[in-house]
Amino acid sequence: MKWGMTTSDIGLAAAAGKATARSSYSRVAIILHWTIAGLIIFNLAIGLVMEGFPLPLRFFALLLHVSSGMTVLALTMVRLVWWLTHEPPPHLASLKFWEHRLAHGVHVALYVAMVGMPLTGWAIVSAHPRLGSAGAAEQARHLPFKIPGSPAGASQPMPGAPPEPGAPALSGVPQGGPPPGAPPRREMKVWGFITLPPIKAIQDLGETAGGYEPQQALHEEFVSWHSIGGYLLILALALHIAGALKHQYVDKEPEFQRMGLGRRNKKV
Ligand code: HEM
Ligand code: HEM
Repeated sequence: MKWGMTTSDIGLAAAAGKATARSSYSRVAIILHWTIAGLIIFNLAIGLVMEGFPLPLRFFALLLHVSSGMTVLALTMVRLVWWLTHEPPPHLASLKFWEHRLAHGVHVALYVAMVGMPLTGWAIVSAHPRLGSAGAAEQARHLPFKIPGSPAGASQPMPGAPPEPGAPALSGVPQGGPPPGAPPRREMKVWGFITLPPIKAIQDLGETAGGYEPQQALHEEFVSWHSIGGYLLILALALHIAGALKHQYVDKEPEFQRMGLGRRNKKV
């Protein structure tokens, strides 16, 4: 790849090197850019605060987070196809070598996050044993469950768990349901109507009682990747916005217009 080439230029090459006089991205690329950007910023914000929400608001926030994140994944697929089949505008001629390289690196990092964040999130919600499986019963033995009406602080095994020797039977408590505060085990519907299937290979790890602990360890790994990825994404986004502001206001180039902000120089 020649210096000065960016992610956008790969699309240019893919478009068989046709010359272009465009100075801004196409309408579809602009709509995709701002829709994805809005959803990602929403997800970063809600992702960082939702843990402090009380139930059931926390579950509702998580559903919005999951819906928005899975939409980012779908739109990023469309964007990648669009990018490979449509010619982007050439880069600003005034960019220095290091600016080309940095912009390219940041764009690649953003694309990795646009795919990687939804996938690690999906992996987190898949890393729970299937309800009714031996792994779910094993999980239940690890989670304290407070029986409504029991003395404050008294905790009992979760419903569905094998009874402790000599423990009283848990009557009137639904079997197999998640305890308060446990990871959501209900069916997840993207925007309320598309059921999100679990990633089967990850869910199946917890099918047996012995598989629960390795699955839990993997769950923690995915949470770490998702969390570190979130902070790296914020860093990449800060660099991306700083670069756009620099080109616009320091270099006095029509950078924002390239992405549809303000009047475009030439209609495409
Ligand atoms: C999470 C939010 C964002 C993501 C993931 C994102 C991602 C990207 C990516 C990957 C590109 C490269 C072009 C392409 O492949 O289509 C791009 C271009 C661009 N973005 Fe963003 N962006 C975000 C937010 C923003 C914001 C807030 C601004 C405004 C300051 C902005 C301004 C631009 C501009 C002006 C370009 C054109 C760069 C050029 O080729 O000259 N973006 N964005
Ligand atoms: C653009 C996509 C996404 C972004 C930017 C994003 C960002 C975040 C952030 C910043 C957090 C907080 C991490 C922390 O507290 O350290 C978070 C948590 C979480 N996200 Fe996402 N997320 C995205 C997509 C998804 C998707 C698609 C899912 C599920 C299908 C998901 C599931 C989760 C879960 C379950 C948590 C809580 C993890 C825990 O602490 O137990 N995320 N997300």
